Amino acid sequence: MIIIRKLSFGLLALAAVAVTLLLWRGLRHDHDVAGSSPLPIDTTQTPLERGRYLTQLGDCMACHTVQGSAAYSGGRMITTPFGRFYSPNITPDDDTGIGRWSADDFWGALHEGRAKGGKLLYPVFPYTNYTRMTRDDSDAIYAYLRTIAPVKQASREHDLKWPVSWRVSLIGWRALFFEPAVFKPQADRSAAWNRGAYLVQGLAHCSACHEARNALGGVQTRDNPAGGLVLDWYAPVLSAAVEAGVQDWPQADIVALLSVGKSARGSALGPMAEVIYESLQHGSDEDIAAMATYLQSLPVTAKPEPEAQPRVLPNDLLRARANGASLYAKNCAQCHGDDGEGRAPAAPALAGNRAVTMDSAVNPIRIVLFGGYTPGTAGNPRPFGMPPFSAAMSKQDVADVLSYVRMSWGNQARAVTAVEVERLSGGPLW
Ligand code: HEC
Ligand code: HEC
Ligand code: HEC
Repeated sequence: MIIIRKLSFGLLALAAVAVTLLLWRGLRHDHDVAGSSPLPIDTTQTPLERGRYLTQLGDCMACHTVQGSAAYSGGRMITTPFGRFYSPNITPDDDTGIGRWSADDFWGALHEGRAKGGKLLYPVFPYTNYTRMTRDDSDAIYAYLRTIAPVKQASREHDLKWPVSWRVSLIGWRALFFEPAVFKPQADRSAAWNRGAYLVQGLAHCSACHEARNALGGVQTRDNPAGGLVLDWYAPVLSAAVEAGVQDWPQADIVALLSVGKSARGSALGPMAEVIYESLQHGSDEDIAAMATYLQSLPVTAKPEPEAQPRVLPNDLLRARANGASLYAKNCAQCHGDDGEGRAPAAPALAGNRAVTMDSAVNPIRIVLFGGYTPGTAGNPRPFGMPPFSAAMSKQDVADVLSYVRMSWGNQARAVTAVEVERLSGGPLW
């Protein structure tokens, strides 16, 4: 009896310690906010211009604006496995926006994921990246956002599944996956590398899309990272050569990809095209080159673990490739060439193109179904388009033509099934 009582007391004490630890980790403040911006601050910019520039590089617009309505007035729907989020109004309106927020409140949101008053914020707002930003940069963005026109528009409630709908659950999430900390420059690296790391890890929040999330929605650093699924597209691994790694690209091609959306080695599609259109194309030459320097230095990782796929029987494969070959000749060859060699500058090569051959078939499926453009930028003012085939082709035909493309002219990727195409047929383009 006594032993049992002792035991349960011990367990209770242990549970109390665990809860305290969880609360402490989930709710802690970061008091170490030193760390100056590892940047050659552009002295030709006024503080407000700098704020505007940083707001663009942080791509706050992409989530906080619905196309066709007032800038930063919120309401954009972001679908995730946890439900639908609606971005809030961040214009300086006193009642419905952040008009009553101080620079400290704003810093609390970007650095610690806490709204004015202490409400914990969902990490769909990528404060897990923004936490790397310096206080100076946060203040500059705050100052800029105060100059935009206030818009009276109440923010919409999210539509989330339980228990995520329960904001308190964020305490546990934060204890597991979030550590507020400003970027610390590395003394043994160049100024350009540090600036690039600061932007890629922090303000430009590349990992928010490019890294897989676990079942709880946490990004975890792993030896063998996997890419992220975002808005029905696949954001490939930034360190893997067979996916989005650019370690062996000449710097000029990386710069072209990031600032123009198109390069000799690859081009941007879907959500990446939007990132370039709204954000990266406005980056200064130095900042884009700095990002390229950092990306080139990432340790090369292996091919991510392939997703389990249903087995395709040899007879089905033969049929798919034959059907695919004739569909290709009829619908695709005029732009992409008889042997997938591409027709520069109108259409990219499909032979030897990793965007086509990576294990995930998500992006090739989305582009054949819905078509697409590289972003229209100063360096690519009238982008060539890829027509949509969702109306003209059955799911099986889309699967077959992609199986053919992925297995011809030296390409050696797995086949695509109609089930995969079906799964990616719904939803908005991005
Ligand atoms: C990927 C989409 C996304 C991006 C990019 C993004 N936000 Fe947000 N943001 C959200 C969502 C969604 C919320 C609501 C989170 C919640 O309810 O917990 C939010 C919340 C906020 C809040 C809290 C507002 C409030 O009323 O509680 C502020 C401030 C904010 N964002 C500012 C910014 C700034 C500044 C940037 C750019 C540096 C930015 N956001 C970029 C999606 C985004
Ligand atoms: C909103 C989500 C999102 C964000 C943020 C994002 N990406 Fe991407 N990125 C994607 C998707 C989806 C693709 C795959 C489609 C494509 O190839 O363009 C991609 C593709 C890429 C590629 C491969 C292009 C190619 O042709 O091989 C590179 C490199 C890349 N991104 C770099 C970055 C960098 C650097 C950042 C941060 C500055 C970034 N991305 C931010 C979604 C995102
Ligand atoms: C009118 C010309 C045209 C036709 C016809 C066409 N494409 Fe494309 N395709 C393009 C262009 C232009 C792009 C580049 C668009 C972009 O990068 O956003 C592209 C991109 C692609 C990509 C992505 C390649 C990459 O580098 O990201 C795939 C896969 C693709 N096409 C497959 C096909 C298939 C399969 C067909 C036939 C069913 C087809 N295309 C028909 C013009 C065409």
